[in-house]
Amino acid sequence: MGRAEKVVLAYSGGVDTTVCIPYLMNEWGVKEVITLAADLGQGDELEPIRLKALKAGVKESLVADLTEEFITDYAFPAIQANALYENRYPLSTALARPLIAKALVEAADRYGADAVAHGCTGKGNDQVRFDVAIAALNPGLKVLAPAREWGMGREEAISYGEKAGLSFQVKKSSPYSIDRNLLGRSIEAGPLENPMTEPLEEVFLMTEAIENTPNEPEYVDIGFTQGLPTSLNGQALGPVELITQMNAIAGRHGVGRIDMIENRLVGIKSREIYEAPALLVLIDAHRDLESLTLTADVTQYKRGIEESYSRLVYNGLWYSPLKLALDAFIQQTQERVTGTVRVKLFKGTNRVVGRQSELALYSDALSTYSADDQFDHKAAEGFIYVWGLPTRVWSEKLRG
Ligand code: ARG
Repeated sequence: MGRAEKVVLAYSGGVDTTVCIPYLMNEWGVKEVITLAADLGQGDELEPIRLKALKAGVKESLVADLTEEFITDYAFPAIQANALYENRYPLSTALARPLIAKALVEAADRYGADAVAHGCTGKGNDQVRFDVAIAALNPGLKVLAPAREWGMGREEAISYGEKAGLSFQVKKSSPYSIDRNLLGRSIEAGPLENPMTEPLEEVFLMTEAIENTPNEPEYVDIGFTQGLPTSLNGQALGPVELITQMNAIAGRHGVGRIDMIENRLVGIKSREIYEAPALLVLIDAHRDLESLTLTADVTQYKRGIEESYSRLVYNGLWYSPLKLALDAFIQQTQERVTGTVRVKLFKGTNRVVGRQSELALYSDALSTYSADDQFDHKAAEGFIYVWGLPTRVWSEKLRG
């Protein structure tokens, strides 16, 4: 008896997921493997990947175009949540996992598979995100993770694959582990494992080195409708097009790089390099528009929600009751987050330099220091007396 009869495997075309195909069949007695390659706007040609899986012996090689859904249903809510894990990482990799899990579960259902599989190792966050998301979507489905159990290094995996009849043209094997989609790239391992080693320029693809960025700043007006980015420089754009263009604009000014030591859910710290140009600029702009259109208490309370939301997404709980509850709060707050934010991009920086909204709570009459001032200055005295009363009583007590 094998571990499963028919398995849908998340497939990237890389060495590990390719070796998973013969491994599942030969070691774990799986009768039929179906691969699913997800298009998340990573820019890879998917047809060669589809054919590669067929050559490796799968019955059915699926390609799922998930880009639009990825941006609309996963990235955009995260922008509304100003989601930054540990205040810095905009979750570009983490957001893709629940969607890939959903595609796996749907394919398993369509093809009558009794298990799904992925190529994650036992050290990362991605295995947690896949396993928990799959359990949430179909608790009856088995999840197989060969790379978590096989204990092979990269060289061993290649020779295992070759013995099983696969051939790899591993071009000068890269020392890095890279994940990429339309939102960004995550780069780890190799020389980056020394936290003191500056990343070589070769790790970056979406962002220009500061040395090569334009010597003139560039302004971009980002339009938001109920917390969702809907236009750039007055031109209405669909979600995928908007992210694509924003990536290009920010990237050419060297905006969007992150270098951090990150706390993984499995308890280890890792050195991570990210580039996520559009996401970082959009979150910063969105947060700014919120400060114009939300009341002080909602703005401040939402910060705590954002922190919980970011941690929960990072930790693989996208499909969970707490996530649903936080979503409801966040959606309620976005009703009036409509307006335009002007961002100045220059030499690796994105600075918000202006914002406007029909729904702004900012009031000239109350804020001005000119003669038009409508604020009742005399009312401040009584307010301060009451506001400071507990502190006054406390101090008097102290002095006896
Ligand atoms: N540490 C990041 C995260 O947890 C990136 C993971 C990158 N994944 C990869 N397979 N290289 O989201």
